[in-house]
Formats: sequence, structure tokens, C-alpha cells
Amino acid sequence: MTSTAHIKNLLEQQQEGWSLDQEFYTSQDIYRLEMDQVVTGNWIFAGHTSQLPEQGDYIVFTVAKESAIIVRTQNNELKAFANVCRHRGSRICLDKAGNNKKFSCPYHGWIYDLDGNLTAARAMNESFNKDDFGLHSVAMEILHGLIFISFGDNPPSMKHAAETLEEPFKMFGFKNLKVAAQKTYPIAANWKLAVENYMECYHCAPAHPEYAKMHTLMLDRKRRDRVQDHMLGKMESCGLKDICHEFEDLEAKAGSQGFGYSRTALFEGYETGSRDGKGIAPFLGEITGYDGGASDFSFGPVSFFLAYSDHVVGYVFTPVSQQQCECKIYWLVRKDAVEGKDYDKAELMWLWDITTYADERIIVDNQAGVNSRHYQSGPFSEMERTEKNFINWYLATMKNAVQSASAG
Ligand code: FES
Ligand SMILES: [Fe+2]
Repeated sequence: MTSTAHIKNLLEQQQEGWSLDQEFYTSQDIYRLEMDQVVTGNWIFAGHTSQLPEQGDYIVFTVAKESAIIVRTQNNELKAFANVCRHRGSRICLDKAGNNKKFSCPYHGWIYDLDGNLTAARAMNESFNKDDFGLHSVAMEILHGLIFISFGDNPPSMKHAAETLEEPFKMFGFKNLKVAAQKTYPIAANWKLAVENYMECYHCAPAHPEYAKMHTLMLDRKRRDRVQDHMLGKMESCGLKDICHEFEDLEAKAGSQGFGYSRTALFEGYETGSRDGKGIAPFLGEITGYDGGASDFSFGPVSFFLAYSDHVVGYVFTPVSQQQCECKIYWLVRKDAVEGKDYDKAELMWLWDITTYADERIIVDNQAGVNSRHYQSGPFSEMERTEKNFINWYLATMKNAVQSASAG
């Protein structure tokens, strides 16, 4: 196929430490290839178990062409199914969340139970066997209450990530969180531009005055080390351990889910990501005091968490089409925290709501410039190191994808 040969050439031409060529943000062929190989075949954060406490509770999670129903079954288990009817393929669940005793396809009324079995189909001939038409299952892994799904046949192993992150998960009590608020931000840009923007803080000072007042990521190394030392000195007495796992290169651990964990100091006087820097919700997990830091978790290419000492913000960047994506944000607090008493929803959302709207604007402007005939790949700064790693991983994954496409 000519397009595969062309993509292969293009992949080889990319210069390490420089932004990608235009076609990576404009070509339908590249978009199609990366959907299966880079995005939907990987693990994606789709929600928290606390969102599904009762039998029949379900959430629907959609990424590009794929959609999954995650449901609590009669046996109190969580299962994930493709939201695709086995009759003629209609979407079955049109709502984003709810509670059902059964799933009834809106097109011709085939009915599935909570385990995905087909239980009723009108006017089918005698040889029709309902057992052969259950919903397709979708891979799911639950890590400390975090639900990850993958639409691929062979998703990478989560074992190494789960084992390595056991300690940080416990520290923040991820199992005992609840979703206090959730919001989806549509972004008219290729999904990679949104992820790249999330991964670098070169833009933070000019784009995010509120964020830049509290987060120290845009400081130069020397100044950052100073505030970092201050936090490290307080960490232990606040119930936090000094752990760091840089984003693990997928190439180095083929078949394993890439992930990362690190904790970074906030500016002095900031306890958490709130308007006045003061605590905003009850301490999470094993935490007993504010050490003045916030932790970053990353899983694969599109799922991230920022864990403050009293709340967690989850970010998922999901493609919708080639130049349209969404940023889905989850604000999580301790399960027993009471809204209006222990936390104020609007205050909880304040920082990342304004920050994400600002990000949306700069990402859309970025896409507009990238679409121009004058766009040229440009060099990354030292502050775009994580983005550079992501691009390296992306190119390596795409090279493998092209190889298997040409072999097939
Ligand atoms: S497509 Fe679902 S019942 Fe026909
Ligand atoms: Fe930003």
C-alpha cells in the first residue's frame, strides 16, 4: 500500500527533539493507524468504581469510533462490553450513565442482560441461537478503584505498573475516592496536540497565571531543587513517602504499560491546588498533613492524574476525529467527604476549569498554525523533555504498527 510506505518514510524522517511534521496532525491515514495501535489498543482511564455502587449502574465511555458500556452485574462484578448491538450494529446505550435492569437496543429491541447475554430477539427463525449473540466484551483492569479499559485484542500488561504503583496508590487511598465532579471539554485539535500540551509546562507561565502562582514546574532546575528540598523535608511527617518513577519507556519494556509517578513541590504557602492555596477537602488516604507538594501519575498516552494531598484531578484526552478531541476531567475526593460541608464543588473545580479553558484556546491556535502551509517542525526547549519522550514513544510505536501493517 502506498500510504503505508509513505508513512514509513515520514516516520523515518522525523528528527529527534523536534516537533512532528504537519501530516501527523492532518493525515487521515496516520489518524486511522494510530487509533488502533496507539490509542484504543492501550489502556484508557474510564472512571472510578465508586460511580457504580449498585447492581445495574452503568457508565458509557467513548473514544473515537469505539464505545464501551461498563456495568455492575447481578453478581456485583464490574464488566465492560462493546456498545454495539449484535443484530445490525446499533449503539445500544445512548445515555452516558444510569441504572438498568437490562439493555434494550433502541433499533429493533433486542434485549441483553447485565452480563451481556442476549435474552430476547423477536421474530427470528428457529435455527437462531441467542447464546451465539452476546455482547462482545471489552478488556478491563481495575487498579485501586480506577477503571481502565482497552479496545485492543492484546492490550499491554498492567502488571508492572500495578506492582510499582501499589505504594503511591495506597498513600492517596485511590480505592476510597469518589468522583465529586466531572466535566468534558471539547477541543478542536488533533488529540496529540492536547497530550503534548499537557506534558510540557513551557507554556504555563504565559498561559496560566493562576496555575503558575502555585505550581513550580516552570522554574529552572536550580530554583526548583530549592523548593523541592523544602517539600522533601516535610514529606515524611505528612504521611508521604519519597518515591519517583519516571515515565517508563514502552520500547524498553515491550508489551508492558508505560507509566510514571513523581511528586513536585508547590510554591511556598500553597497546600493544594485551590484559589487561596489553602486546603480544600479532607486529607486523602494515609496523608496527615500538607507537605506542599502534588504528585503526577501517568498511564500510557492519554490518562493522567494530579494528586494533591486532599483531592485528585484525573485527565483523559480522547480523540473524537482527526482534528477534534476531548479532555475529560474528574475531580476526586475522599469517599466520605460531604459536599457543602467538607468541600465546595465550585472551589474544587476552579483551578483546572480555568486552566483547561486556557489550554483549549492555545491548543486550538496551535492546530490552526500547524494546518498552515508555513508550518515547519520546530525544536523543543529543555522544558519540553516529557513531551519529547512522548513523541519518541509515539514514533517507535507507530514504526512497529507500520511494520505489522506491511507484514499483514
Ligand atoms: S440493531 Fe440492535 S436490535 Fe437491531
Ligand atoms: Fe496548560
